[in-house]
Amino acid sequence: MKDLEAWRAAIAALEDYHQARPEMDMRQAFAIDRNRFDSFSLSLDDLLLDYSKCAVDEATIEKLIRLADAMGVREMRDAMFAGEPINTTEKRAVLHTALRAPADADFAVGGEDVMAGIHDVLDRMTTFAERVRSGEHRGQTGQPITDIVNIGIGGSDLGPAMVTGALIPYHDGPRCHFVSNVDGADMADTLARLTPATTLFIVASKTFTTIETMTNAKTARDWLTDMLGREATGRHFVAVSTALDKVADFGIAEENVFGFWDWVGGRYSVWSAIGLSVMLAVGPKNFRAFLDGAHAMDEHFRHAEPRQNMPMLLGLIGWWHRVICGYTSRAVIPYEQRLSRLPAYLQQLDMESNGKAVKRNGRPALTETGPVVWGEPGTNGQHAFFQLLHQGTDIIPVEFILSARGHEPDLEAHHELLLANGLAQAEALMRGRTFDEALEQAYAAGMTEEHAAAVAPHRVFPGDRPSITLIQDLLTPFALGRLIGLYEHRVFVEGALFGINSFDQWGVELGKELATALLPVLRTGEGVDERDGSTANLVKRIRAAAEA
Ligand code: F6P
Repeated sequence: MKDLEAWRAAIAALEDYHQARPEMDMRQAFAIDRNRFDSFSLSLDDLLLDYSKCAVDEATIEKLIRLADAMGVREMRDAMFAGEPINTTEKRAVLHTALRAPADADFAVGGEDVMAGIHDVLDRMTTFAERVRSGEHRGQTGQPITDIVNIGIGGSDLGPAMVTGALIPYHDGPRCHFVSNVDGADMADTLARLTPATTLFIVASKTFTTIETMTNAKTARDWLTDMLGREATGRHFVAVSTALDKVADFGIAEENVFGFWDWVGGRYSVWSAIGLSVMLAVGPKNFRAFLDGAHAMDEHFRHAEPRQNMPMLLGLIGWWHRVICGYTSRAVIPYEQRLSRLPAYLQQLDMESNGKAVKRNGRPALTETGPVVWGEPGTNGQHAFFQLLHQGTDIIPVEFILSARGHEPDLEAHHELLLANGLAQAEALMRGRTFDEALEQAYAAGMTEEHAAAVAPHRVFPGDRPSITLIQDLLTPFALGRLIGLYEHRVFVEGALFGINSFDQWGVELGKELATALLPVLRTGEGVDERDGSTANLVKRIRAAAEA
């Protein structure tokens, strides 16, 4: 925060304005101002951001930008791109943006250029991916690799899993599978579909200590070596990690390791060698297009003025909804089945980044911080939770993500229906339906006066519910990279407005520590009564079932 007084003044101005302003009715806002869409939307090439269905006006946006200035958001952004250690608690730079920059870009950490190292790893990934995809790299028995299993969790799983799912139309490499959960069912169900001789495992872990990943990797190694012998590991296992010594201890040779750096956060790592499974599936050229899309968003975020800056505006409106309007969650609904893992991906990106209660200086946050992020693809979500979005007592801003074109030209009728639904939901949230309209509809359906009057209140939609719509032409690798880049920077902007460090994740530690301590108790029962009454009895219940 640059200046506490300026911050207080900016927040007070927003709160006062929000309270003093008569409730803004969206139907009226659109009726009064035919150009509302023009004022509250912007485009970056084929990507359109429409936030005109949010209850903001010019004064709101102006005051929000003043808040961003008071919080030094632009200075923080510049510090991030300059490689300064803005992840203060871990004393690290935050430079995932360098991973997608062209080789001649200027990025350094502590005065040391990082671009040569990044492109060295990218070149090695490319060579390896081409060898696997062409069949030159073969398994222990001389057969080509047909299946890849990425073993990782959190950022070492969600990014590549989400991206490979999104880019199915571009797949021309081996099939990709993802095992993340330490639940043995995840590994067992995956291995049941595979043959060791044609399977390649990628052990993806930034730290190479994550218990789930290490447990799964050992199980996979046993499965492979039981069938093909110990020497098979060399041809069937590669690793992606920053912890090269630990990878060596696991038995993966140096030439099979793709490194990255501590200035790449787990949830920002899909652009690094963590994206190896993506490159294997869609090829190096498409992977580069994915990086280029994110780079285009980086350049936009870096250089566009706040009023024309997509991540800035998305972040400002997100903050406005969370802090001033008090909305506790937001839904992200991709009208794109292949983006079905996007909400889970965004949950980690957003909630692991901005789910914090202390500011960068260790003092309590002065406002609410990150909202709950959730979602499902449309149209499926419409038949599940949209009831609550339209008529529930909580207001939940919704973000619709649409592509104007689909990848299935033969199924155009499906795509038209999909789009009509997405647009209609946003329209319905905004317009709502009045009591009189509901009554009229009931009469039109042939109801008696008594029945219509009884039913009408249930058919009222309050409307005036905010939504944002993002539309791109087609879900290409470039468009996907750009979209993820947009969300990353939006999270950055909101985190900066909250005054928190968006780049650490201490909140995941306690549970991990307790799980480590509980494991022997669960196994042996020793020390069970030293736990709290609830945990002790839960352990006993499980042990009793296991012993029965
Ligand atoms: O537990 C949370 C976390 O640290 C995430 O931030 C990270 O993406 C995930 O675990 C996996 O970590 P690693 O890549 O080190 O195995």
